[in-house]
Amino acid sequence: MNVTLSNGKVLPIEMHKIKIVQKTTLPPASRRLQAMEEAGYNTFLLRTKDVFLDMLTDSGTNAMSDNQLAAMMQADDAYAGSESFFKLADAVKDVLGFRFVIPAHQGRAAEHLLAKALVKPGDVVLMNYHFTTSKAHIDLAGGRVQELFGKDALETASSNPFKGNIDLDRMEATIREVGVEHIPYVRMEATTNLIGGQPFSMQNLRAVKAKADAHGIPLVFDGSLISEQAYFIQQRDPEFAHASIQQVITEMMKNVDIFYMSGRKSTAVRGGLIATNSQKFYDLILPFLPVYEGFATYGGMSTKEVEAMAVGMREMTEQSVASSAADFIKYFVDRLVEEGLPAVTPAGGLACHIDAQKFLPHLPQSVYPAGALAAAVYLTSGVRGMERGTISTDRDAQGNDTLADVELLRLAFPRRLYTLSHIEYTVDRLKWLFAHREMVGGLKFIQEPQVLRFFFGRLGPVERDWGKELTTAFQKDFGMDC
Ligand code: F0G
Repeated sequence: MNVTLSNGKVLPIEMHKIKIVQKTTLPPASRRLQAMEEAGYNTFLLRTKDVFLDMLTDSGTNAMSDNQLAAMMQADDAYAGSESFFKLADAVKDVLGFRFVIPAHQGRAAEHLLAKALVKPGDVVLMNYHFTTSKAHIDLAGGRVQELFGKDALETASSNPFKGNIDLDRMEATIREVGVEHIPYVRMEATTNLIGGQPFSMQNLRAVKAKADAHGIPLVFDGSLISEQAYFIQQRDPEFAHASIQQVITEMMKNVDIFYMSGRKSTAVRGGLIATNSQKFYDLILPFLPVYEGFATYGGMSTKEVEAMAVGMREMTEQSVASSAADFIKYFVDRLVEEGLPAVTPAGGLACHIDAQKFLPHLPQSVYPAGALAAAVYLTSGVRGMERGTISTDRDAQGNDTLADVELLRLAFPRRLYTLSHIEYTVDRLKWLFAHREMVGGLKFIQEPQVLRFFFGRLGPVERDWGKELTTAFQKDFGMDC
């Protein structure tokens, strides 16, 4: 939520009290350099004891509510028929309107089940934009992804409120080219993660659904960030200016054949699910559930998390919850833009994103500017972000890098976890880094896994030891203790 101050300034404000805290420490720059070297210049391989503010992801790191924690104490531990599951199924019915629920241990597990049940070798899955794990499961099933984003989706400085839209002409042309028989579904991702958490519009969703229907293609909705997607529609589309988050969700779901989500985001638990009203799809997917996840009433989740998800599912429809991260992210982005730094606009869901190619224009994509920026930000602040660029895409069949459409550093803002002073601290250190950006060099792989290499890959500076030089310059300005 926002409040307007007496000087007219808009300030994001916490609509909760903090009842439990976890201590965090800021390791000095000398230790950060050591830790970065130990982690192979990959922020995924840092230990959290070396991290001050963990902005790697909002996945599984959001603060849970007192009601969620209380619900966990009522978990009904049963292999089959647990009452906890039926509470979740009721919440899904009430909030999303689906009668069949297939729980899974997280979002990618839902993607795995969908790919197993629906994707055949040679198939093409249409989507607004891919997510790493959704693409990996489709590839592993022998299919491929075809993205259908619009012209300006990749412009990082933009005022387009709905960069997550599908281009309907591209969709029509691709259907004709590929043939409906090879298209198992079209996937709409709420607040497209990899291009900066950008939403699609309700009009676009309706039009995509109408076109898909005309060709008999089902629509699959990745609702990992459904509450933010609904919030952006409410804020940015006059048709929904007076609608509640629940009303926007209900309207979106009218266009959905199969819904799935990572529960680690909007519902703030460690879980996931698939939901549908179609008996046909339920019967197709269900047989894979006990093989890969668990029985139909827990699907790989602990019953404690199932209980908490039932509560989180209802809470995500509250205005103050749906807006809790988005308003702070907007403040974060506005502050960076004010300071002349290349943050992605409009501000999206889940994170503040920075255009690494604009931040480090001297580094070509072949030396991974977004990865270098993630490392440099950690070295100068103790803030851990995530590379979302070429390192996050795997090599093609010939072994060449697949250059990412955009090179982004993502600074995730988990819901209800960090405060305004954390943002101001990060903005200050980013400003210092921007003023010293020529010192940041490129990275190269030292150890490179074949699939999803960004998770475990180890890298190092391309030539000179720029990590050390940057750390020395930082210590000169801030002292040895910062
Ligand atoms: N879909 C989207 C849009 C996601 O952002 C994620 C995860 C998944 C599916 C997979 O869900 O992690 O529960 O298996 N995104 C996390 C992130 C990992 O950091 O953005 P999961």
